[in-house]
Amino acid sequence: MARGNGCCSSFCKCFFEYETPRVLVIQNKCVGTINRLIQASIVSYVIGYVCVIQQGYQDTDSVISSVTTKVKGTALANTSDLGVQVMDVADYIIPPQMENSFFVLTNMIVTPNQTQTTCPELPNPSTICTSDSDCTAGFSNPRGNGIQTGKCVNYSDTIKTCEVVAWCPLEIDTNLPKPALLAEAENFTVLIKNSIRYPKFNFNKRNILPHINSSYLKRCTFDRVTDPHCPIFRLKDIVTEAGEDFQTMAVNGGVMGILIDWSCDLDLSEKRCIPKYSFRRLDNKNPTNNVAPGYNFRFAKYYKDCDDIDTRTLIKAYGICFDVIVFGKAGKFDMVPTLVNIGAALSFLSLVNAVCDWVVLTFLSKRDYYSKLKFIHVDENEDTLSEGTMYGTQ
Ligand SMILES: *[C@@H]1O[C@H](CO)[C@@H](O)[C@H](O)[C@H]1NC(C)=O
Repeated sequence: MARGNGCCSSFCKCFFEYETPRVLVIQNKCVGTINRLIQASIVSYVIGYVCVIQQGYQDTDSVISSVTTKVKGTALANTSDLGVQVMDVADYIIPPQMENSFFVLTNMIVTPNQTQTTCPELPNPSTICTSDSDCTAGFSNPRGNGIQTGKCVNYSDTIKTCEVVAWCPLEIDTNLPKPALLAEAENFTVLIKNSIRYPKFNFNKRNILPHINSSYLKRCTFDRVTDPHCPIFRLKDIVTEAGEDFQTMAVNGGVMGILIDWSCDLDLSEKRCIPKYSFRRLDNKNPTNNVAPGYNFRFAKYYKDCDDIDTRTLIKAYGICFDVIVFGKAGKFDMVPTLVNIGAALSFLSLVNAVCDWVVLTFLSKRDYYSKLKFIHVDENEDTLSEGTMYGTQ
C-alpha cells in the first residue's frame, strides 16, 4: 500500500493505531492469593474508609456561627463587709455582654471605703523597715500597692512597714471565703442562642430547633437523657458533666468550655442536623502543683462620700468563665471530590501489580522462567530476536 506520499501514509498508520500491553497470566496459588488479598484490602479501604467513614464523595464546608447568652438566677451572698446581699444578674455577670462567653462571679474579696490617702504597706521582706532610711520616697514597687512616701510607720504593734500613697485601706486577699459566697450559683441557668450557617450550601439553622415552642422553652433544662435539645443549661450540670465539682471550682474560679458540635451530613434530612453539646474544663487544674489556681480579676465601684471625697469599693472577683466553642463540618455529595477519590482508588490498584511482580521475580522457585517470559532482552549487536521473544510468540 505504501506509495509516494510517505509522510501522510505513515501519519495515517500512526493515527489509526491502538497499543495495548500483552498480559502474562501466572497460575500460582501463592501469588494468586497475594493478588486477591491486596485487591480486597484496597477495595475495602476505598469502600470502608474513603466512602463510609471519610465520606470522600462529599464536598465539605466549615461552620460560621454567632452566640448570645443570657444567665438567670438570684443568690444571697453573706459577706462580712457588706452583710447579706441579694445578687442578681447585673451583679454577678461581668462584663454584662461578651462575645461567645460569659463570666459568672462565684466568690469575692470585698474591700470597702477605699480613699486616696497614705497607709502602711502590707508586710513582706521588701517592705518591712526599722527606720525611715529603709524607705525611698517616690519608689513604687510593681508588686506593691502604692508609691512610698519615705516614712517607716507601724503596721501592727510589732511590725513596721514603709508608708505608701494608695487606695487605703489596702486589700488583704489572703482569706478567700470557703465555701464560695455565691454557692447558689450552681442553680443559675443560662440560655445559649446559637445560629449557624454553612455558606457553601446556603444552609442556616439555630440551636432552638423548630419543634421547640415558647412554653417548652420556659420550663425546660438541658438533660442529656430527657431533654437533649433544650438550650437552657444549669451551671452545675455543665460543670458536673465535665467531671468537676461545682462548689470546689466556685471557690477559686476556672474556665469551662461549652462545646457545640454541628457536624452534619446534608445528604440526609435537614431534621437530622442537630447540635451536640459537650462540656470540658479548659483551664488546667493541676493537683500536685496548685500555684495560682483558678480565675480572678479586680474591679471597683466608685462613689463620693458625704464629704465629696472619691471613694471606692474594691472587689477581687473569682468566678467561672464559660466559653462557648462552636465547631463542625457539613458534607454534601459533589461530583469533583467523587472523581478525585475514584481516581486515587484506581491508581492504588496498580500497587497490586508492583507487589505481585516483586513476589514472582524474587521468591517463586520458577522465577527465572517467569523472568524470561516477562522481559525481552535486546542485544544491540544481534540482529535476530533473543530467546525471550521466542517464548512469547509461541
Ligand atoms: C439548688 O437547687 C436544689 C433544688 O432546687 C436545692 O436542693 C439546692 O439546695 C440548691 N443549691 C443551693 C446551693 O442552694
